[in-house]
Amino acid sequence: MSSTRHNSNPLSFFCGLLAIFWWNGVAFNVDAVEFYTEKPSFLPSCRIYEPGFTKCSTNSIQKLIDQLHVGIPEIVEKYGTWDPMHVRDIVFKQDNVEVATIRANLTDVVVKGFSQTKIKESRVSKKDFHWQTKIFLPKMRLDAKYKMQGRILLIPLSGEGNIFIEIENLDILMYTKTRLYEKGGFTFDNVTAVQVKLNMSRVRTQLDNLFNGRSKEVERSTNQFFNDNWRDFYEALRPLIVDTVENILKDIMSAVFHLIPANFFVEDIPTPQQLYGTTT
Ligand SMILES: *[C@@H]1O[C@H](CO)[C@@H](O)[C@H](O)[C@H]1NC(C)=O
Ligand SMILES: *[C@@H]1O[C@H](CO)[C@@H](O)[C@H](O)[C@H]1NC(C)=O
Ligand SMILES: *[C@@H]1O[C@H](CO)[C@@H](O)[C@H](O)[C@H]1NC(C)=O
Repeated sequence: MSSTRHNSNPLSFFCGLLAIFWWNGVAFNVDAVEFYTEKPSFLPSCRIYEPGFTKCSTNSIQKLIDQLHVGIPEIVEKYGTWDPMHVRDIVFKQDNVEVATIRANLTDVVVKGFSQTKIKESRVSKKDFHWQTKIFLPKMRLDAKYKMQGRILLIPLSGEGNIFIEIENLDILMYTKTRLYEKGGFTFDNVTAVQVKLNMSRVRTQLDNLFNGRSKEVERSTNQFFNDNWRDFYEALRPLIVDTVENILKDIMSAVFHLIPANFFVEDIPTPQQLYGTTT
């Protein structure tokens, strides 16, 4: 009977819709927490002062990555899905370097491949609790819209259009600095710096509409040249690629480690007071 009334009265139907949206909004806010106070069941925790820590930690970080792919609500709310991942715009400027002098802007950046992330090793320093992580990705692909001016490998370039960069067998060595801090009686990691070193077996790329579409033939042969000489092409664009990877990893890790206490990864982690002393 009440459903008949809903259907026959546009205003109450509209109010019903509003109520649904409001309800979803509230439900979402209740779900999302500022930080976890209970250890999530997907996460095995480890003890750094006991033998076998690195093996345990490697497995624990792999479980975290797998869960990022499943979707951690607080992270999805902020960054969207893990794979494909939408990345903020990249503004890139590299001057006075012989191999490449370019200004490039990438927008609508989507990166695919993180669901296949393998953690090969996760080490944590007992001294200052920085991390050293070995990561492997069988394939990473970046799609974006680009706008570019400059030259790469002596080839003058200007154009705008679609770009993709595909990297195969990507080894990432990640060095992460952290500062411990206290929140709600837990110890948390503040990720303060991320540095990566990359190795790969191949880089493939395609820049559409190079030279603003003036010559399809030159565009084709230029892309061919970049792919035939991919190591030089990668070296020329290394700062851009390394920056991009570092920014993605720093954003995600910051969000994760402000959300999940370090105690849930390393049960016997010291408090900031114990590590740094009470005066700092
Ligand atoms: C890239 O964006 C910046 C700021 O948004 C702008 O100043 C610059 O001219 C752009 N570069 C290109 C090559 O379009
Ligand atoms: C890259 O390869 C070099 C030489 O084989 C090696 O020394 C280095 O550790 C590798 N780095 C990564 C990130 O795998
Ligand atoms: C984390 O470190 C940054 C500096 O790198 C600082 O600005 C920020 O306040 C720190 N956050 C917390 C919660 O300690």
